[in-house]
Amino acid sequence: MKSFEFYNPTRLIFGKGQLEKLKREVGNYGKNVLLVYGGGSIKRAGLYDKVIGYLNEAGANVTELAGVEPNPRLSTVHKGVDLCKTNNIDLILAVGGGSVLDCAKAIAVGAKYDGDMWDFAQRKAAPTDALPLGTVLTMAATGSEMNSGSVITNTETQEKLGWGSAYSFPAFSILDPENTYSLPKDQTVYGVVDMMSHVLEHYFHAEENTDIQDGFCESILRGVIDAGPKLINDLQNFELRSTVMYAGTMALNGVVNMGYNGDWATHNIEHAVSAVYDIPHGGGLAILFPNWMQHNLHVNPARFAKLAVNVFNVDPTGKSDEEVANEGIQALRDFWTSIDAPSRLADYEIDDSQIDVMVDKAMKFGAFGNFNKLEAEDVRKIYSMSL
Ligand code: NZQ
Ligand code: ZN
Repeated sequence: MKSFEFYNPTRLIFGKGQLEKLKREVGNYGKNVLLVYGGGSIKRAGLYDKVIGYLNEAGANVTELAGVEPNPRLSTVHKGVDLCKTNNIDLILAVGGGSVLDCAKAIAVGAKYDGDMWDFAQRKAAPTDALPLGTVLTMAATGSEMNSGSVITNTETQEKLGWGSAYSFPAFSILDPENTYSLPKDQTVYGVVDMMSHVLEHYFHAEENTDIQDGFCESILRGVIDAGPKLINDLQNFELRSTVMYAGTMALNGVVNMGYNGDWATHNIEHAVSAVYDIPHGGGLAILFPNWMQHNLHVNPARFAKLAVNVFNVDPTGKSDEEVANEGIQALRDFWTSIDAPSRLADYEIDDSQIDVMVDKAMKFGAFGNFNKLEAEDVRKIYSMSL
């Protein structure tokens, strides 16, 4: 285990009816609120009216930024930054999925920066301040509600880049599982794949003595593997929505990965696909992750075998680590296929014509991956395996 410092300042407010705490929370930050949301799902679900009701009760002056795209765009971040500067915004309130939250994080740091927020994604500068951000989550997937990460797409340069800073944690996040009832089956599946992928990114690391952390990871995976298939056939089941929402937050709020750095190569490889083809993040991960595993199995077969036994109940009796590991990878593929996640880039009509472009994008900051460093040839191989 490595030395570490853990700090997570997000107040997590979880459960049925917790939206009413919005009035109390908003009251802590001042009157001028920028309400950020996506393409309209919150209006169709009735959540917009409820949020506006609590904001009115808090005496807030509300400015709106609607239309944040899935895979949120830098141009939308710029609109939000302008609104903050011209309306003297005190608090940004993001209501939506990971895209809305990530966009709001970028607006929060951009509003306190004289240059272009894209500098942060490009690693040319680091944030030194931000407006406070509150969130109301409507989709369990990214963990953005309790972490400092954000992923923004620049459509001009066709780049999708993650960034984060100590200034980009939400100050509070309200998670009522009922606010995810309206999430359709396909997006629910993408969320399940994304949170499982976050845990898998953690699981493949190069440190020793992490049995406790491994157990946390295995527990989240087992919980999601149990709840996920039931949920997609019962989308308005409160207990199942709760389990999956809690899992999504715990998968990427920094708790389970204290003392080591996970791999994170597959996310980088997926972001390059989304940058070029604008596909759903969870869909891309379902295709790429098993192939990353296959490509890297040789690095530490025992680690893959441990996952296979403890999460996928593979019987190791009389088998080599490689055999057990391969059965585990197949079990992961089978599980994602069973819930209708995509398994090939062809499912999104993606062929090999842009592989070189995607490899270049993935390699922007050089070789990557903490479990195994990938060079351009490895990335090309993984894309080719995924066609
Ligand atoms: O735009 P609206 O109308 O709200 O519709 C959204 C969107 O079309 C819809 N939706 C969300 N909640 C709903 C709902 N529809 C009905 N009822 C609800 N309750 O779902 C669609 C997808 O939403 P989006 O926010 O894009 O999904 P997700 O939460 O998966 O976020 C994906 C983005 O997060 C990034 C991804 O790369 C991608 O850009 N990530 C962010 C991370 C982070 N901040 O830590 C880590 C992740 O690994 C990931 O990279
Ligand atoms: Zn992800």
